Amino acid sequence: MILRLLPFLVVLFLCGPVWADDSVCLQCHSGQEGRLAAPVGQWQTSVHATNGVSCHDCHGGDPTDFGMAMDPSKGFLGVPAYADVPAFCGRCHLGVREDYEGSAHGKALERGGPQCVMCHGNHAVQKASIELISEKSCSRCHSYDRAAKVKAAISQTEDSLQRLEDQLDELYRVGIDTEKMNGQLFSTRNDFRRLFHTVNVEKMEAETAGFTTRLGKIDAQVGEIKDELSQRKMIGGLVVLLLLAGGCIAMLIRKSYHEEE
Ligand code: HEC
Ligand code: HEC
Ligand code: HEC
Ligand code: HEC
Ligand code: HEC
Repeated sequence: MILRLLPFLVVLFLCGPVWADDSVCLQCHSGQEGRLAAPVGQWQTSVHATNGVSCHDCHGGDPTDFGMAMDPSKGFLGVPAYADVPAFCGRCHLGVREDYEGSAHGKALERGGPQCVMCHGNHAVQKASIELISEKSCSRCHSYDRAAKVKAAISQTEDSLQRLEDQLDELYRVGIDTEKMNGQLFSTRNDFRRLFHTVNVEKMEAETAGFTTRLGKIDAQVGEIKDELSQRKMIGGLVVLLLLAGGCIAMLIRKSYHEEE
């Protein structure tokens, strides 16, 4: 067991120093208290931490300079005000920002419309999904019926996305190269999920057909691979049977040969 884990442990050891974040932001804030330390623990659980997006990527500043880390001359941005959050997050999430800004939510921003952090949180941002549309989150400012309509409009495409994601994982686990299909699924998912931010049911319904076609193409590729796999399995099974049969015959021949002796 230990021997089988050995190569893995060696890789872990070699990668260790790369994983350990030597950002001074993390070092100093871990040792602070209350609202200054809280972001560190929350951030560690986030999709941003997993993807290497750290404190300074959002807040700016210099993660290598202990003394000057938070100096404006080092690009430190500080904490964004409520209405500045969409631009703050939207530096990286351009498509989402565009759809959001054109939406009823984006247009109501100055009058208390929700911004990114209201729905996704700030430091503990998780992978997005349709589960974010909930009674608890969406009835804080208006009745839930509107949200329910949006949820209904995207649920079928979301189901297809989820099913394909699971199938690609399954193929990957049995050793199929799924990189290209994953790429196609990733870009389809991005294009689809930014659409939510329009909160415009008609638009979502109008664009569903296009997404169904794109997902159908990936689905067809998955189907082909699965057919091929089951054929290979059948041939593999036949080969095993033939080998077994061959073995039995060989044994019988040897047995009868010995008996004759
Ligand atoms: C030497 C310790 C230290 C380092 C290094 C450090 N911080 Fe801070 N940070 C603090 C302290 C103390 C405060 C609260 C007092 C203040 O605002 O200056 C703070 C405040 C903040 C705030 C809140 C500011 C506000 O207006 O409320 C943010 C955001 C922040 N730091 C991010 C960062 C980032 C990003 C980095 C790395 C580029 C970093 N910090 C590096 C100690 C540090
Ligand atoms: C994904 C972007 C993002 C990352 C990464 C991020 N922050 Fe923040 N941070 C924000 C936003 C947005 C706010 C403003 C909060 C709000 O409006 O709810 C904020 C607020 C803060 C505050 C003020 C909190 C308060 O209650 O006054 C501090 C301190 C802070 N961040 C430190 C950090 C530290 C330290 C890290 C790294 C562990 C970090 N942030 C990583 C986006 C980020
Ligand atoms: C410095 C660039 C950067 C900033 C700023 C940033 N993000 Fe991200 N974000 C990323 C990257 C990179 C990923 C991981 C790749 C991906 O899934 O798109 C990500 C992932 C996400 C995801 C998960 C997407 C998924 O696949 O489900 C959400 C939600 C998200 N970010 C929201 C936010 C919010 C809210 C803010 C502002 C508080 C923010 N981001 C600020 C770079 C950034
Ligand atoms: C912070 C308050 C707030 C939260 C939270 C919020 N909304 Fe809204 N929503 C608004 C405002 C403000 C408007 C625009 C003014 C109006 O129509 O009342 C709006 C409008 C809408 C509309 C109508 C869009 C149109 O074009 O007519 C939909 C649909 C909607 N929201 C869905 C949602 C969903 C889904 C959620 C939860 C994920 C949500 N809202 C959470 C404040 C909020
Ligand atoms: C009213 C709530 C709400 C607001 C405001 C909001 N989001 Fe979202 N966001 C969602 C929901 C719900 C989803 C998932 C949609 C789906 O599953 O189709 C999502 C999905 C995402 C994704 C994932 C897209 C992908 O490629 O998988 C990112 C990134 C993201 N949001 C970033 C942001 C940013 C940045 C802002 C601010 C400009 C923002 N969101 C504002 C609710 C919101």
